[in-house]
Parts: sequence; C-alpha cells; structure tokens
Amino acid sequence: MLLRWFLCSTYLVSFSQAGPQQFPISLETEVQNPNTFKDNARDKGPEIFNAVHSAMRQWGSSLKHNGMSFLPVKVPAKTQLYHGSRVKEPVTGMEWLAFEIEHAEMFARSRGRPPPGKGDRPGRPRGPGGPKDPDRGQPDGGPGLNPPPMEGDNKGYLHIYQTNRDLSKLLYIDGTSAGKTSMGTLDTTDIVLRNVTDSTAPWGDYQRAEDLCSLGLEWDVEGFIRMEAGFELILCNFTDGLDFVSAYQRPPYDQPEGYAGLYQFEYVRGVAQRYHGITAGRVQVDYSSMASAYFYPLNLTNPDETKSDLPRLVSAESEGIQRLKTHVHHSLSQSRAHGHQTIDWQGVVDMIVTRYSDRLKLLASSTSSQLEMLYEINFLLSIFIDYNSTDIPSAKESCTTHYLKSRKVI
Ligand SMILES: *[C@@H]1O[C@H](CO)[C@@H](O)[C@H](O)[C@H]1NC(C)=O
Ligand SMILES: *[C@@H]1O[C@H](CO)[C@@H](O)[C@H](O)[C@H]1NC(C)=O
Ligand SMILES: *[C@@H]1O[C@H](CO)[C@@H](O)[C@H](O)[C@H]1NC(C)=O
Ligand SMILES: *[C@@H]1O[C@H](CO)[C@@H](O)[C@H](O)[C@H]1NC(C)=O
Repeated sequence: MLLRWFLCSTYLVSFSQAGPQQFPISLETEVQNPNTFKDNARDKGPEIFNAVHSAMRQWGSSLKHNGMSFLPVKVPAKTQLYHGSRVKEPVTGMEWLAFEIEHAEMFARSRGRPPPGKGDRPGRPRGPGGPKDPDRGQPDGGPGLNPPPMEGDNKGYLHIYQTNRDLSKLLYIDGTSAGKTSMGTLDTTDIVLRNVTDSTAPWGDYQRAEDLCSLGLEWDVEGFIRMEAGFELILCNFTDGLDFVSAYQRPPYDQPEGYAGLYQFEYVRGVAQRYHGITAGRVQVDYSSMASAYFYPLNLTNPDETKSDLPRLVSAESEGIQRLKTHVHHSLSQSRAHGHQTIDWQGVVDMIVTRYSDRLKLLASSTSSQLEMLYEINFLLSIFIDYNSTDIPSAKESCTTHYLKSRKVI
C-alpha cells in the first residue's frame, strides 16, 4: 500500500494544480469546456512534466524527439551566437544561428571545388537539395545555410554575432524540432504553425523557415528556437538586434593533416556538452506561458505501431489543432504582457527528479532487499507524516502539493 501511495504521489504532481496565476489555467475561460481542458492536462501530467524537464536540454529532447509544446523565450542582450558561411559579408535578412561553436563550424568549412555540373553554382536556389544531393555533407538548413557562393569560391567563414538587446519575441518549439525527419519531429511546426499536412516531405527547410517568419510578422515574433544535434535560432531579421562581431576564414580545404580530421566528432562532442542544459542563461524560458498539444484532448496516436510511445499530430482533429495554434499566439502576447516573468517550473521539476529518480531506480531494481526498500520509502515519505497521529489523506495531499509551494518567480 505504501509503495502504491508513493508512486501515485509522485505522478499526481501536475501542473494543472499550479494556481490561478498560471497561464494555462487562466485560459480556461477561453476554451469551451474548462473541465475537459483541466482533466486532459492532468491525464497528461507525466508528459507535461517531462516536457518541462527537457526544455532546452539536448538529452531529453532527443529521447522524446516528437515535441508537442511551445514556449515563449528570450535570448538576453550580449549573447554570442555563431553562423557558418561561405561568404565573409554579414548576413542580412533571415538565417540560422547556432548556440555552439562546433555546430556552426560544420557549416563554415571550406570545400573542394565541385566537379563541373555538380554542387553549388550561381543561381541555384538557396538551400541544399534533399537527402540525395551528393554535395550536401550538411543538414538542410541549420546555422549556416548560405546564399550560393560565387563561382570558384570555396572558402568557409565562421561568423560571430552578438545580441545588442534582449531578443524577447522568440518562440521555442520543443523536442527535436529542427530534425528533418518523417518521424514526427516536425509535426508541431508543420501541422500546427504552417498548416502543412504532408509529413513525408521533411526537407525544404528554407521554405519552412520563411513560413515561420511570415507567421512571425503576423504574430510579432522575431525568431524561432529549435533543436537538432545542437540548438539553433532562426532569426528573421539579422539587421535588427544583432551586432556582427567577426567572420574569420576557415583553413583551406586542402590543408595538410592536423586541421579537419575530427570536426564531425568535435561537433557531436560540442552538442553532447549541452545534454543537461544550454548553460549561462542564454535562453530564458517562460514556463508559465507554455502551450502544448498535451493540454488538449487531441488524438496523439502514432500510426507507426512500433513507436507508439512517441506522440504524433497526424491523426489530431483540425479544430483542436486550430485551438492549440490560437493558444500559442495568445501565450506569446501574455508572456510579453507579463514582462516574461515566470515561475521556475524547470527548477521545481529538477528538485522532484533529483530527489526521487535514483531512489525509484533502486526500488525498481531486483537487487534491493525488502528492508532496503522500506528504508528508502519511509525516508522519502517521512516529511509528509506526523508520526503522532498518522493521517493518510492529509499526508497524500501534502506529498502532492509540497513542491508546488516553492515557486520561485524568475
Ligand atoms: C489549413 O489548410 C486546409 C486545406 O489544406 C484549409 O482547409 C484550412 O482552412 C487551413 N487552416 C488554416 C487555419 O489555415
Ligand atoms: C530589418 O530590421 C531593420 C532594422 O530595424 C529594418 O530597417 C528593416 O526594414 C528590417 N527588414 C525587414 C525585412 O523587416
Ligand atoms: C486516433 O487515431 C488513430 C490513427 O488514425 C485511430 O486508429 C484511432 O481510432 C483514433 N482514436 C480516436 C479516439 O479517434
Ligand atoms: C498527538 O496527537 C493527539 C491526537 O491528535 C493530540 O491530541 C496531541 O496533542 C498530539 N501530541 C503532540 C505532542 O502533538
């Protein structure tokens, strides 16, 4: 009984109990059936919990790669961002920026001159071709998609930019939302934000970014943060909010040994350093203004039965999708109206995860004895119990709400 209670308690922690100032709750008045809305959010408690835990973290966002949520975010002034290019001149207009040097270096590399009739040439549309393009060598889109170089220009440049003000009108699309796959990584972008239903054509990231920035004009959003191997920012107008710091030429393509041999491994290493966070507060997330497919009674069934644990939006009802889209728009304006003030829900979630996760793992393992299990359970639950007069209902209530009370506004 104790164990059941214990497990229940940890799962009962749900953001739907957060309190009236939390945005999803205040939206109640705008949805047709507030109880359905609330019940749904409560049913999806574990998913919402995980989404908050994984926000801006490479590890959880890769495991649960089909993100279902949107969060307004801010990149503070003085943040350095990187861009790989085949031209030295600063970017104007829309482009990709990487948060990690290693990520941008992938796009900054000089290349051998392509054989005649192959590869980049003037007039070629921006954006490498699909997976069949033999010259790609890099993902389609990403922090370094460039205008076609001049004939014979095989040089690469690493650009550094720095924000000269807070970029406060950004939308973060969670999961592996920059992953050009047909597995569902693009569902929230394509189905919700772009109203494109053909999820079998994941490429064409330039068009995708243009569509996002058109929506950005409508909604007053200046950029979108996504994740592939590495976090990136699609910034809709490089001449607004960024200072160009430098563009250093990369070593030439035919450099002797010692320059380029390991760059792909270095890329993966750089990205893996961000498994548990982007570091240095470079992206400030407004958790209180999260909008999520998990808040709605949508059909999230994955048509691929072997991946049934990962949600998809391909079977979701279009009316519900439309409501979610409206919610995202509303969240962005609410977040700004509140000056991006938020409760540090990820901090709260981290406190819960760090207290319980190793102990749950021990309890679930076959090696622990009954006595060891009792020690752990009794220790974990002790905080909720007055041993003078054990009162299970109030102990349960206390367990459910304990961490929700320590809400730090950031
Ligand atoms: C989405 O596209 C479909 C047709 O492809 C159209 O019927 C529908 O009105 C569009 N929805 C929105 C919100 O633009
Ligand atoms: C980009 O920002 C600059 C500086 O604010 C502005 O002059 C320009 O019109 C903007 N470009 C677009 C396409 O909005
Ligand atoms: C959800 O979608 C799946 C796949 O399209 C379908 O088989 C299932 O019947 C749907 N569930 C509901 C409740 O409509
Ligand atoms: C212990 O519980 C009893 C019954 O609820 C109560 O009367 C008593 O005051 C409690 N004792 C202490 C020391 O709190």
